Amino acid sequence: MPSNAKDNEHAVNATRCVLITGATGAIGGALAKLYAAPGCHLVLHGRQATELSLVADKCRASGAHVTCSSIDLTNENALGEWLQHICEQQVPDVMIACAGKNTHPTGPGELEDWEDVCALLDINLKTPIDMTRHLVPAMKACGKGQLVLISSLAGWHGLPTTPSYSASKAGIKAYGEALRGLLAPYNVGVTVIMPGYVTSRMCNAMPGPKPWEWPPERAARVIKRGIDANRARVSFPFPLNFGSWWLAVLPAGISQWLVKRLGFDQ
Ligand SMILES: NC(=O)c1ccc[n+]([C@@H]2O[C@H](COP(=O)([O-])OP(=O)(O)OC[C@H]3O[C@@H](n4cnc5c(N)ncnc54)[C@H](OP(=O)(O)O)[C@@H]3O)[C@@H](O)[C@H]2O)c1
Repeated sequence: MPSNAKDNEHAVNATRCVLITGATGAIGGALAKLYAAPGCHLVLHGRQATELSLVADKCRASGAHVTCSSIDLTNENALGEWLQHICEQQVPDVMIACAGKNTHPTGPGELEDWEDVCALLDINLKTPIDMTRHLVPAMKACGKGQLVLISSLAGWHGLPTTPSYSASKAGIKAYGEALRGLLAPYNVGVTVIMPGYVTSRMCNAMPGPKPWEWPPERAARVIKRGIDANRARVSFPFPLNFGSWWLAVLPAGISQWLVKRLGFDQ
């Protein structure tokens, strides 16, 4: 058992297990609190131990059984051992890979810092795929499960303010879409989430305009509804989703012009 995992002794008796990474963040934390209820075993991950235990305490107060972990998700061995241990106790019914980071170009015409880019690709793209790799055999054996991958509206069309982030979110969107058809015959669902701007540390640090920004609690309610209904894609808010979607389908020259015109080139 991973040394920093803190198990609730009654966890295995819970009727439903929901695993959430990024539980110390705005969206992951709001989702954890929304799922927290008697009969639910929440497995919460976050590196900030104090913040994580605050979220866990709130979820316990709502009646959930909570297990916390702060392992290094980008360490393949640590991740594999952690997920194996979880599955031995109770295979997650829902996995929400919410941990993620952003990077920005360091100045006009400058590329993003390479170390930052590698760390971003690790946590935004490689880690959710690695988590999927470990959980799918157990979910298939149970004949049920729901994988939830967090993309972004930036996955519709790359934004000059966040090139690597856009690439990671387009990548995880494509991965989730592909996986959905692959796993449907085994009753394992896949939902891709494409949020617009949601108030959070990451969102606050983002340059550029942030139209139709939502509070995390509102985003979490919409995300949970989509997961419960096994929707292929949950994208919001409507006006920004509709506009961003056009960027993906219009001729590339027009999309590039629109991105500049809308101020996403700064
Ligand atoms: N907010 C938005 O506007 C927006 C829009 C579209 C998509 N999203 C996506 O939604 C997800 C949640 O973001 P948020 O808005 O809730 O941001 P946030 O409040 O900044 O939270 C980010 C979360 O990711 C975790 N994290 C970051 N790097 C990590 C790493 N290397 N290893 C483990 N955990 C790591 C953080 O946990 P610790 O620091 O405790 O480890 C934190 O819990 C992200 O995937 C983000 O890309 C957000």
